[in-house]
Amino acid sequence: MLRVRALRLLGRRRASGVSVPGSCGPRHCSSGPLGVRDDAPGARAFFTTPIFYVNAAPHIGHLYSALLADALCRHRRLRVPSAAATRFSTGTDEHGLKIQQAAAAAGLAPAELCDRVSAQFQQLFREAGVSSTDFVRTTEARHRVAVQHFWGLLEARGLLYKGLYEGWYCASEECFLPEAKVTRQPGPSGDACPVSLESGHPVSWTKEENYIFRLSQFREPLRRWLRDDPQAVTPEPFRLAVLQWLEEELPDLSVSRRSSHLHWGIPVPGDDSQTIYVWLDALVNYLTVIGYPNAEFRAWWPATSHIIGKDILKFHAIYWPALLLGAGMSPPHRIYVHSHWTVCGQKMSKSLGNVVDPKTCLDRYTVDGFRYFLLRQGVPNWDCDYYDEKVVKLLDSELADALGGLLNRCTANRINPSGTYPVFCANCFPPAPGVAGPSARAQAEDYALVNAVATLPRQVAEHYDNFQIYKALEAVSSCVRQTNGFVQRHAPWKLSWESPVDAPWLGTVLHVALECLRVFGTLLQPVTPSLADKLLSRLGVSATERGLGELFFLPRFYGYPCPFEGRRLGPETGLLFPRLDQSRAWLVKAHRT
Ligand code: ME8
Ligand code: MG
Repeated sequence: MLRVRALRLLGRRRASGVSVPGSCGPRHCSSGPLGVRDDAPGARAFFTTPIFYVNAAPHIGHLYSALLADALCRHRRLRVPSAAATRFSTGTDEHGLKIQQAAAAAGLAPAELCDRVSAQFQQLFREAGVSSTDFVRTTEARHRVAVQHFWGLLEARGLLYKGLYEGWYCASEECFLPEAKVTRQPGPSGDACPVSLESGHPVSWTKEENYIFRLSQFREPLRRWLRDDPQAVTPEPFRLAVLQWLEEELPDLSVSRRSSHLHWGIPVPGDDSQTIYVWLDALVNYLTVIGYPNAEFRAWWPATSHIIGKDILKFHAIYWPALLLGAGMSPPHRIYVHSHWTVCGQKMSKSLGNVVDPKTCLDRYTVDGFRYFLLRQGVPNWDCDYYDEKVVKLLDSELADALGGLLNRCTANRINPSGTYPVFCANCFPPAPGVAGPSARAQAEDYALVNAVATLPRQVAEHYDNFQIYKALEAVSSCVRQTNGFVQRHAPWKLSWESPVDAPWLGTVLHVALECLRVFGTLLQPVTPSLADKLLSRLGVSATERGLGELFFLPRFYGYPCPFEGRRLGPETGLLFPRLDQSRAWLVKAHRT
């Protein structure tokens, strides 16, 4: 894909005698970083989002990345509750030509623009319940220290040389582009202007003496890393794309700009005439937040999972691991890649004026509602299209009707007047259909339900491991449907607590349904934390009973005591998720336009 013809490296290359650290294969293990299982006690995990450019306000794509990372992180905290075991960082990428130009266009000092937009990201993530443990800004002093130290290592290892770098530069993407990726478009004055083929953003011809990183030396080590660890880049199609890029030429990479041209950045140590390339600067943020260069960072590196969009795959799966290997470190444990949100079939962009404001969505659909929508509908492997009606339809059917309706059906005063978790009757629901006695009432489909819900936590965990959170939610939703079918089938509202024949079965039907709801509530915590809290609180599940370690579904069916049986339900606090549909004025307006 990257043709060297367009990216001419005219520098005289110093013969390099350095051996490439890590060329004997990076340290990794399919069971997890450092060869331990990810959820073993004491194992650590560090999740990151990209750090976002501050040239424009956040949109739903940025929020989506942050929510994916948040859900992974929250799910892991349910598996490994120790607060010291999981870290999660996000932040803003504040240096570079793009920001320098955006500030100039807005008539602001770059630092002022950065403060303003970084605060918007921080506020949005706070409001959306993004449970990050660190927010890093690349203009912070701790980050400058980390970047300059990292640079020093590359230099000391003979991996940087000075040379003339020439090619098309796209400020919007902050990268050089080969000729094949550049096209001409009529500009404002009618002249043909060179633009990036993919993004349509303007490019300019740049020719200057820079520091250059010996990227070409890392082709083999990178291939080996990707071949040896099939999950290093997940999902699979993205790993294959990276391997394909590595089939092509891998030219050395310019890693600095003349400071007369780019002043908004971190100076090259010992050479103030050059500013460090913004991508090298940005990628090191992942080390800054874990204390690099102090030794403490080793507790978290390489136990790191990067969550990124497909647009920045090459930077994360080629440049970053090569830079790390160059500095004597391992590549990250995982790179989880997702595709993009489009809006009504179009790419989201400021110039098209179709950017969806995440703040408005959180207000309209509630925090939990919008989190659920993005994570339930966002598919990592393909682009997904956004439109308002889709959100309303999904939330009304899955959260309001199916889940909320189920809870209401099993806890409402008229059906459960004692307000307790009813008793399970093993004679009504024997351990297997074959041993049915005279009071047995359970049918084959009921056993299928119990089996589906019993295996749900494992299924969900597997989907999280494969970065298919939408599949985890699909599986939960399917079990919710099955549980509603179970309740419908046995119509507990037709049974009477007064009848000695009906009562044990009525209790059993409600007990099983509440046990299913307890599993759903527990598994939904990473995606809809407040809604799950409301659900679990209504069931009377205490804060210490909400982890995956404690989630033993329907123990009475398997012959064990159930700690919830006979317990008082929590207080009634209204609808779990009120329907959104036509009653909302803004939606009626959206339908008309
Ligand atoms: O690239 N759909 O920052 P950025 C889904 N600063 N996700 C989207 C999206 C969309 N339509 N648009 C953006 C940068 N994203 C660099 C990153 S990291 C060391 C430096 C998300 O502000 C997605 O995660 O352009 C994408 O990779 C990221 O925002 C790019 O954000
Ligand atoms: Mg971008």
